[in-house]
This record gives sequence, structure tokens and C-alpha cells, in this order.
Amino acid sequence: MLSEEKNRQLTQVSAGTPMGELLRRYWMPIAGVSEFDSRATKPMRLMGEELVLYKDLSGTYGLVDRRCAHRRADLAYGMVEKCGLRCNYHGWAFNETGKCIEQPFEDTAFPGRNAKDRVTIKSYPVEVKGGLLWTYMGPKPAPLLPDWEAFSWDNGFTQIVISELPCNWFQCQENSIDPVHFEWMHENWGKRLRTGDMSRNPAHLKLDFDEFDYGFTYRRIREDSGENDDAWTIGRVCLWPCGFFLGEHFEWRVPIDDENTLSITWKYTRVPAGREPYVQKSIPTWHGPLHNPDGSWIDTHVMNQDFLAWVGQGRIADRTQEHLGASDRGIVAIRRRFFEEMESIAAGGEPKGTIRDPARNVRVPLPMMDRHKVLEPMTVDEIMSDRRTQLFYTTYIFQAGQPDWVRKEMSDAMGLEVVEFDGIVKARTAKAD
Ligand code: FES
Ligand SMILES: [Fe+2]
Repeated sequence: MLSEEKNRQLTQVSAGTPMGELLRRYWMPIAGVSEFDSRATKPMRLMGEELVLYKDLSGTYGLVDRRCAHRRADLAYGMVEKCGLRCNYHGWAFNETGKCIEQPFEDTAFPGRNAKDRVTIKSYPVEVKGGLLWTYMGPKPAPLLPDWEAFSWDNGFTQIVISELPCNWFQCQENSIDPVHFEWMHENWGKRLRTGDMSRNPAHLKLDFDEFDYGFTYRRIREDSGENDDAWTIGRVCLWPCGFFLGEHFEWRVPIDDENTLSITWKYTRVPAGREPYVQKSIPTWHGPLHNPDGSWIDTHVMNQDFLAWVGQGRIADRTQEHLGASDRGIVAIRRRFFEEMESIAAGGEPKGTIRDPARNVRVPLPMMDRHKVLEPMTVDEIMSDRRTQLFYTTYIFQAGQPDWVRKEMSDAMGLEVVEFDGIVKARTAKAD
């Protein structure tokens, strides 16, 4: 349980708030590179700020104030040019540093005045990594954009999935250090949904949580696993400050504002043995829907189940009303660390997990369970003989709504038929396996 004041500190993300200032010390993924194959501008709200992300005709990305400095027109309707973004109202143009580079009437009628030199709009740097576009909204100098090892894995089909969730980011991130929900939400409840089966999957017996440079790990022993399993010796990574790393995929929960979160997933699937070399020309980005046609929340896919739990906690979870249990030790640990970090940066300290030394920022490894299963080539027979790998290679279990064209690209990469994951429908007509 937390006080109202402490809950506000964890959840408010605007500039000038303690958490807003802390989160601005980190690079955040905000979009997929491939989104700009079919668009030039993308309006974005990030940490409570109205911005527009664009790619100009030279291929330079910019993230600038959404409102034009002239009379506040919406730059999301602007025109990209060889250099920068031009407002569609009176033609003022801005580059990626926010500098006004043209004011057509003023430049023509009063060329000596150089009025544009006195005008800039807010801008943030944009970098590309792993098929994602990232930004840094904090004070300069910016730390390095982490070069997580996964971004250099080859022979894989990667896809990026984006959704906007109507709840605060912190309750999403608490899920990254919450091992027991897996047993209940994804296994026991998931099975009940699919089959009506009320039997229970193996229970958690023991948990532990550890901190390391780039976050925390949770480790578990269940009725079906022991002390030598990766789940206990390595565990999963709650990636600081707003990520989750599960080996073959990352999830990030990026604050849109206090009441909305951008969910970004980066998912890698290695091609089967014999399909190498496979070089992916472009990493597809798709947008995952949240609702069924009747307005109910989609509950068929792993992350959709998480989403409905997070949203169900309320727009901003009221932590004055909660009763934490022994399974929540990791949640207590990350909250404590966030409070310490908020104080530390207010006093001028270096935030946890930032990298400034280029020599350290090369294929940075993270703790990873089942490394060989994710990265080593498996034959099609091996893939098909294990239910979990079969699902990973022939469906997308994490979010509903994978478009046909992405399924086809994945299918072509894998040399396998990739089908829509539809556990509910399948199970309603079939027995549990
Ligand atoms: S409002 Fe943008 S140029 Fe006038
Ligand atoms: Fe989950």
C-alpha cells in the first residue's frame, strides 16, 4: 500500500514531475522504422507532450513540437521536404533541431531581416535501432542508446507490434516483475477460457528477485521445475526503467501521458535450420487492436490478457487500496528503487542503467533463459515436436490482429505455414490437449 502522494510520484510523467524527470533520462522506443514506408508524419503524445515525428525526403527523422511556432497550426499535416518539415498553413519550415529554416513571405518581402533566425520549436533527437525509432527527451548530453545484443541477432524474422493502452504506464511495468500472474492469468485462466477446464497448472513454490545494472530479474521454482532450471538460475528481466525482456522478445511500456501507455513489442523468431542465410529486408510494424467487434476486450492472446488486467486496475491504479503479498516482493523492490532514483537525479546523480561509454555499448547482453532454444537453429521436425516451439514458429501468440501480409512474410521466412492464433475458437470445438 502506498500513500496518495507516493502513488502520484510513481505515476505522473509530465516534465517537472519527479518521475517525468527520471524517465526523460532514458531513450524510449516510440515507433517502427517501417511505419514511415507509408507515411511521412506521425502525431505523437509522449510523456504528456504533443509532438510530431517525421521523416524528411533525405531520410532524416525529426521529433518536434506538434504546433507551428507561427500561429500554432498542426505540423502533423505538414509537408516533408528535402530538409525538414514545412507547415501547411503559411509555409514556415523547421529542421530536426527545431530551427526555423524558412519563412516564405518574410524571406521574400524582407530578406534582410532574417526573422526566421529568432524562431525555434521544441525538438528531441531520434535514433534508429533494431527497426525501432527511439527518442531521448531529457537534459543533454544524452546517454547512449543501448545496443542490446538482441538487435544484432541474425537469421531471424522480427516484427514490431504497437498498441495504445488506456492506463498509466507504471501498472504495466509492475507486470514485468510479477512472476505469479503467469501461472494464473495465462495458464489457469487462459485454459479456463479456452476449454472450460478447471484443472490447475503447476504452482509456484519459490520466488526470488535480484537487481543488476540494467534492471531486475525474477526467478521461480514451480511444481514442475527445479533448482537447475534456467527459470531459477537465470530468470526473466524487468528491464529498467520501462521494459521487459523475455529472450525472444522485448516489451516496453512508454508513457503517452499519466493515463495512457504506448505498448511496443519487438519479437524475434529464428528461421529453422536450413533456411539460412536469411536477411530481413524490413522489419514489419503492425498495430494490435484491443477490442472485439462487440466492444469486449480481446482475451485470446498473451499480451491482450495482460492488457485487460492492467486496464482493469483502473486508469491509474489506486495503490492506497492494495494489499501486497509475498509474491509482490519484486514490485516493492522496483518501487523502492524508483523512489531512490527520483531523489538521486534531483540531486544531480547519474540515473541507473544509463550507458555513456561507447566501448561498453556493444551488443550488450542481458540475462536470458533458454538462450540455445531462441538462437540455435532447430529443424522443422524439432520445432513441430514441441508444442511451445510449434506455436512460436507457426502463429503469433502474443497479440491479436497480426495482419495477413505480416503472416505471409513470416511464413516465407520460416518456410512453414503461419496461421492465426485463435486459441478460443479452436478450443471451443476441441478438447484440451
Ligand atoms: S501557422 Fe504554421 S506557418 Fe503559419
Ligand atoms: Fe503476462
